This record gives sequence, C-alpha cells and structure tokens, in this order.
Amino acid sequence: MEKYVIRGGKRLQGEVTISAAKNSAVAILPAALLSDEPCIIDNVPDISDIDCAIKILRRLGAEVKQTGKSTIRIDPRHIHSDTVEYELGKNMRASYYFMGALLGKVGHANVSMPGGCDLGARPIDQHLKGFQTLGADISVDYGMVRLTAHQLTGAHIYFDVVTVGGTINVMLAACKAKGLTIIENAAKEPHIVDVANFLNSMGADIMGAGTDVIKIRGVEHLHGCEYSIIPDQIEAGTFMIIAAATNGDILIRGVIPKHLEAVTAKLQKIGVKVVEYDDAIRVTGTGVLRKTSVKTMPHPGFPTDLQPQITTLLTLASGTSIVTEDIFDNRFKYVDELRRMGADISVDGKVAVVEGTGKLKGAPVKANDLRAGAAMIIAGLAADGVTEIENIHYIERGYEGIERKLKALGADIKKVVIPDGYIQKQA
Ligand code: EPZ
Repeated sequence: MEKYVIRGGKRLQGEVTISAAKNSAVAILPAALLSDEPCIIDNVPDISDIDCAIKILRRLGAEVKQTGKSTIRIDPRHIHSDTVEYELGKNMRASYYFMGALLGKVGHANVSMPGGCDLGARPIDQHLKGFQTLGADISVDYGMVRLTAHQLTGAHIYFDVVTVGGTINVMLAACKAKGLTIIENAAKEPHIVDVANFLNSMGADIMGAGTDVIKIRGVEHLHGCEYSIIPDQIEAGTFMIIAAATNGDILIRGVIPKHLEAVTAKLQKIGVKVVEYDDAIRVTGTGVLRKTSVKTMPHPGFPTDLQPQITTLLTLASGTSIVTEDIFDNRFKYVDELRRMGADISVDGKVAVVEGTGKLKGAPVKANDLRAGAAMIIAGLAADGVTEIENIHYIERGYEGIERKLKALGADIKKVVIPDGYIQKQA
C-alpha cells in the first residue's frame, strides 16, 4: 500500500503533456476483438485499467504484445473463450465492453455483471435493452450476464437515458449485425467518436458519432488497422484546474481544445486566464477566484468526471457556489474528506453548496474513487501544510504518471509506502 504526501502552497508552472484517453482506450482494446486480423493501437495510456483490459484479452485467447513505448498489437484470431469472470471483471467497470465486442464477434458472451460503485447505482439496463433489440437472448446467473444470438440483426434503438457505455456497447455489437442499426438519444462524448473512428478504420460503416443519432450499417468482415487514441479530456481538465487552484501558469500540451470548451468557459468565469492554441491550452492564475454555479451534463456540457475537481477549486474561491451533479446520484462522497481540510460544503442530494473560504489546510485524507482522488491532489497542492492521500490505487487507474508530471511542474509530492499495520491518523 502506498500514499501520496504533498506539501502544498507551491505555484505550479511549466508544461505538461496529456496522455491518451482512458475512457477511449478501455473500449478500443475490447473493440479490437471484432477484427479478423491483428490491430496496432498507438498512444495507449500506461494505467492500471489498461493492464486489466490486457489481462482479459489474453485470458480470452487474444495475443497482446507491447511493440513500442505506448503501442500494442492485438491479434484476436485465436480467441477461444467468451467468458470474463468476476475475478477479472470486478477490477475494471468498463469490462462490460467485452459484452458488445464478444457478442459482435462470436455471437455469445458470458461476462460478469459490473458491481455497484462509489458513484451510486450504475445499471446497465440500456446496454442490455440494446443487445436484446438486436436479437440477443439474455439471462443473468450467479452474477454473470449470458448473451447469445443466432444472428444479430440491425434495429432501431432509443435510449431512455444518455449513456456513454450503452452507446459504445451497442456500436460494438451492431458493427457486424445484418442490416442497419439506428441509435437515438446517443451519447456524444469525444470517446464515442474515437471508438467509432477506430471501428471505421477496421472497415465498419458508422455515421453520426458525436451527434445524438448514430447509424451503423453492418459489414461482414473487419480488417486490421493502425490507430492512435485521442488525448484524455479529463486529465487535461484536471491539469487546467490544478493551474487555477495553485494560481499557477501551465501550458497543457497534446489536447483537443474543442473537447474542453465547457471547462474553459467555467474557469474564465471564475477569473482564470485561459488561452487556446491548436493542440494546447495555457491556464494562468490571476490571483482572483470567483464563485460560480456548475451543473454536470452529458457532453458538450460540464463533465461529471471533473465535478470533484472543480468543487475543490470553488472551496478556494470567494463567495457561495452551487454545484449540481446531474449524472450520478452519489458523487459527493469526497466532500467529507475536503471538510477535513477545512472546506465548508453542504450537500443535499444532487446539490452541493460551497462556501468559499479561500484556503484549505493539509490533512490525512483518502481517495474514494478515481476523480475524487484527483480532487484530493488538487486540494493538497493548494493547501497550507502537508496532505497525505491514501487509496492512491484509484488514482493510478486513470492518471498516467501523475506524480512525475506534477513534480515536473514544481509540486512537492512523493509516493511513500504505508507500513503494514498502519492506521490512518484522524485530524
Ligand atoms: C462513462 O461511464 C465513463 N466511464 C465514466 O467515467 C463517466 O463518468 C460516465 O461515462 C459519464 O460521462 C467510461 O467511459 C469507462 P453512463 P458509463 O452509462 O458509461 C445511467 C471516470 O471517472 N445509466 O453514461 O458507465 C447511469 O446510472 C468514469 O473516468 C442507466 O440508467 O456512464 C448514469 O446515471 C467514472 N442505465 C447515467 O446513465 C444504463 O444502462 C450515465 O451513465 C446506463 C447508464
């Protein structure tokens, strides 16, 4: 077990390069199963969720080789299993993409039902409704979802809620179905477009990704391709907020500024200077942080995956801010940790009222999940004194080299081993 120890109060300055998008990569790796030939995937992030996806691919019989620093080759020609057991699936929620990929590839799949998590209930009823509409029979037995289809057939699917995972899963299953599939009320996140582009590079016929109507005309074969994953919009947004919270000056390279417009607009409203370049964004503190209101929404709205980070920033602002979480019903758990650092936040259901106090104080805290962990890092960097963050395995699920990147910007952060039998101090 390890923890981060951060001595806060430093103004972070310099350049950081953003890694590839976790939420694209965890879908693109399973999607490679659909090909009849090997695929080369470039710009794969070095994070533990990817280690987990590779383990699953290998267990299914795919050959996965690292051929460059961040390049892997997936050869799916000899897969011999359709099963993703609980022991493997439980470590990566996105293992549900193996349902769509295996169903599309071999017509059957047996994948562990993803469990609940710290964000609240996360049903996959819309994924299953989509598979069923395409002609799959579905049963759940001892926590495993069994999907079988003699022949998947294109169909019209209307999602009751906008779902990123559901949209991608149905695209995967429909790629090789017979005829035309139309997904309405589709999610529009950048990684939906990325996965569609990857599938099209293999010969799929997908139109409309990035809008709320996606049309997929089934093809018989998908071939190998070489594809590079897009930059991580959420990692980029996290560094933008880090620059704001430390009154710093950070040039964030390797980004697609269009993906970050909601964050840019909010930071400008709060009083931070944001300048966009072709593939970079520079964020500079002005010494002023003003209150604002934030409501999370599906893309192109403000992303829920940056809600804990911006809420943390607003504790440092002047005035009362309102943050409404409209995607998940339980994404304010980290607030208790921020309170231990002196934050004044009250939560009522989906709404948090943040009384900006202008400062935070270091304390021992824990990461409740990936983005809550990022929020603790931001709090620790901005706080007076020392912050110790436990449960950092959550953070390492999705942020490549975060400690290294922060150090290069001047942060005082180190990873230390927690001795066996250690019990976290209460502040
Ligand atoms: C994806 O999760 C991301 N994960 C999440 O990122 C992200 O927070 C979320 O989209 C929203 O942007 C991946 O891409 C791997 P949803 P996903 O289906 O697909 C409800 C992170 O920190 N819903 O868009 O599971 C659901 O309960 C993670 O990187 C149903 O009711 O999210 C939620 O309220 C965390 N039925 C809403 O829709 C369904 O069948 C959106 O969920 C599916 C979803």
